[in-house]
Amino acid sequence: MHVNFDTIASNIKKKSYPVIGAGSGRIVFDLDNGYVVKAAKNRKGLEQNKAEHRISTMDHSDIFAKIAAVSDDYHYLVMQKAERILDSNIVCKYYNVRSLRELFTSEKFRNLTKEYDLLYGDLFRRSSWGLVNDKPVIIDYGFTREVKRLYSIF
Ligand SMILES: Nc1ncnc2c1ncn2[C@@H]1O[C@H](COP(=O)(O)OP(=O)(O)O)[C@@H](O)[C@H]1O
Ligand SMILES: [Mg+2]
Repeated sequence: MHVNFDTIASNIKKKSYPVIGAGSGRIVFDLDNGYVVKAAKNRKGLEQNKAEHRISTMDHSDIFAKIAAVSDDYHYLVMQKAERILDSNIVCKYYNVRSLRELFTSEKFRNLTKEYDLLYGDLFRRSSWGLVNDKPVIIDYGFTREVKRLYSIF
């Protein structure tokens, strides 16, 4: 997929894209083509974009929303757009567990998080998940040990 980050930057400036979410590090805009762009608001957001890009290139599990492109400076990250999940039971049913917490104690998930240096952080939260082609995927996976070390005040 070809992504022109100059066009994206200028459209954000013109407020052409609807905002579909925001977190501590990024604002997320709907590109209206099945993708979103996560724009870093600060250095933490840059590190989260970098981490999500790193994990996405390593991953073959299909548990993480795919990333189509990232800008050279990590300011912008283009990710598959996910539908909001209104009930965490959707995820639990899919993985055959009773809770998201239980999911992350399974061997498969423990191995994944260990391999990617990913902290559980918000992964238990329903808001970290979304549906892509009706399949539950993680959409907020930039919280690594490195990000915590650099940017957590706790
Ligand atoms: N791939 C996506 N598809 C749809 N909405 C998303 C996607 N990624 C993030 N969002 C929305 O944007 C919000 C902020 O994104 P998030 O990745 O959590 O940023 P941060 O890491 O700064 O917290 C999310 O809570 C969610 O509502
Ligand atoms: Mg978040």
